[in-house]
Amino acid sequence: MLLVVASGNGREGVEGAMKVLRENGSAIDAVEAGIRRVESDPDEDSVGLGGIPNILGQVELDASIMEGRTLAAGAVGALTGVENPISVARRVMELCPHVLLVGAGARRFAEETGFVPCNLLTTPSLQKWRSRLPEQISENFRELEDRGELLPLVRAIAEKMRRAGTVNFLARDERGDIACGVSTSGWPWKYPGRLGDSPIIGAGNYADNRYGAAACTGYGELAIRCNTAHSVVLYMKMGQGVAAACREAMGDLAPLLAAHGGGMNIVAMDRQGYPFGITSSATGGSYWVMNEKSIAPEECELERISSAQAG
Ligand code: GLY
Repeated sequence: MLLVVASGNGREGVEGAMKVLRENGSAIDAVEAGIRRVESDPDEDSVGLGGIPNILGQVELDASIMEGRTLAAGAVGALTGVENPISVARRVMELCPHVLLVGAGARRFAEETGFVPCNLLTTPSLQKWRSRLPEQISENFRELEDRGELLPLVRAIAEKMRRAGTVNFLARDERGDIACGVSTSGWPWKYPGRLGDSPIIGAGNYADNRYGAAACTGYGELAIRCNTAHSVVLYMKMGQGVAAACREAMGDLAPLLAAHGGGMNIVAMDRQGYPFGITSSATGGSYWVMNEKSIAPEECELERISSAQAG
């Protein structure tokens, strides 16, 4: 069963990912192709080019990719100036003796391995960023870099708004190999150097051919604390179906969601390619599924966890 599963903002990459699978490409090629498409879309302000920047106005990107057959993985965090961090993550996986590179080291590695630096800050994302800064700072925002204290500003903005859009792609190829990828510009107005769950293997992303794969969007700090993506796969290993495993992992998050607010979405598939998605959001949401018989991606509703589960 060929299968592509993507988070709600992944629509435009799904057909490209399926095309890779139909042409006998690997699951990891499909995941990379799907995510690249979203990263390069300047209108998607939570991923790649056009992502809303950190508190200093710098776009810092996180991404990870994992291959379920070998458990090979690569990730980058707080990477600046590269449009397709998912491809850098893949190159870390394939060329580097490490799994995760961050900041200046990730940028250096990207340039050393042939990625061309670019400006990720678009005019609309700069405007969105400025709109949340206090007026006197917004007018002189270039001076932010010299401020001794960023923390009060980050905390003040975070209190009013906690938003972390992310793109997830999961794929299963003809050989039954599965792969999973995640990419994001992270929490807008974040403290410089903040990493979310997306580059943390096990938190935002996990794939194991023997059981399945899972990925998260939402409040990354909570997925790190619960190791959510790996939990879903572990619950499948322990015998649960993909839906029950997602509900269980969401149940693990429930006390944290109740205490801290914010939300979480999980998309997952089992090893046979049965998809499932779940959200903590009361207003719901959707994800995309395309299999070998599909003519177009199908929009599926994320299951909403009950208020009892949400604590
Ligand atoms: N889930 C994405 C983030 O928290 O950065």
